Amino acid sequence: MTGEAIQNLIVQLKKEIEKAKGQIKTLSDLEAFRVKYAGRKGQISLLFKQLGGLSPDQRSSAGKDINDLKKNVQEFLENHPLVKSGSEKNKNIFDPTLPGDAFRLGSLHPVTIILRQIKDIFQKMGFSVVEGPEVESEYYNFEALNIPKGHPARDMQDTLFVDDSIVMRTHTSPVQIRTMEKQKPPVRIISPGKCYRRDTPDASHSPVFHQVEGLCVDEGITFADLKGIILNFAKQMFGSNMKIRFRPSFFPFVEPGAEYDFTCLICGGKGCRVCKNTGWVEISGAGMVNPEVYGYVGYDPEKYTGFAFGMGVERIAMLLYEVHDIRLFYENDVRFLKQF
Ligand code: PHE
Repeated sequence: MTGEAIQNLIVQLKKEIEKAKGQIKTLSDLEAFRVKYAGRKGQISLLFKQLGGLSPDQRSSAGKDINDLKKNVQEFLENHPLVKSGSEKNKNIFDPTLPGDAFRLGSLHPVTIILRQIKDIFQKMGFSVVEGPEVESEYYNFEALNIPKGHPARDMQDTLFVDDSIVMRTHTSPVQIRTMEKQKPPVRIISPGKCYRRDTPDASHSPVFHQVEGLCVDEGITFADLKGIILNFAKQMFGSNMKIRFRPSFFPFVEPGAEYDFTCLICGGKGCRVCKNTGWVEISGAGMVNPEVYGYVGYDPEKYTGFAFGMGVERIAMLLYEVHDIRLFYENDVRFLKQF
């Protein structure tokens, strides 16, 4: 074959290809076009095979022309609108028969649920809700609660210090002092919130936990009022079968002081592993406000008496939901949390 003949063939094929391009309507037209011209045995490959009989000069010039044609066809195939926009187009198709995406609603944390119930019950009994700071001075956390320097409760093992005289509050009792400083009796408040202690986490200890403090001061308040309020709370929270008991105990800011327990819900009071066979679960401490404390807030101890109590919120949640490990509340495993 002569150089002229092959140049003619190239020109012819170019024309044919340009014409064929204009006739493509569907993806299968496009595929047929590709096979016919750019396929392994297509027209362009055939042209390359004709180069063999040419002189070197002619070969390189014709070879370049065929290569250009090949590139042209390849680019045309890659950029064809049928190929390019196919996937993008599909994205915009709205198919009303497909099931919708399920969005799972979040749920309240069990501690939040219990806190809300506790607040609700006490508000109905005439208590108002007061909050205090979690970073607290030694004065409010200890001193004014009649816990002098050197008392075991101040031990480094229990308290997280921020600096020499500032601590992460170890209980919600400092809110008692803050409230009485600002307000004359009658006082009837609860104070919910986070507390911090230097405890190693285990099934019943967490370095952060929640307490609800209760305080009621007026003329003529007695220990019987304390028992009545706690019993009423226990029945409303857990049901009318609930019993409570008080055991003598010591807290520097109450006198007399007690710890109080609720019937173990797991065994109904018969005794089980959770209540260590006692039938009772410890909730927290309580007692009559120590007259020493009134000295710090300027109340007349001859005129006023009152009671204070603490309440372990996680303990109540564990009792109610039969959760045996406090750490579950703080691991944020949604498989646990979504059950409430
Ligand atoms: N603040 C005490 C504690 O953290 C509980 C308590 C509160 C005791 C009020 C008596 C009165 O253990």
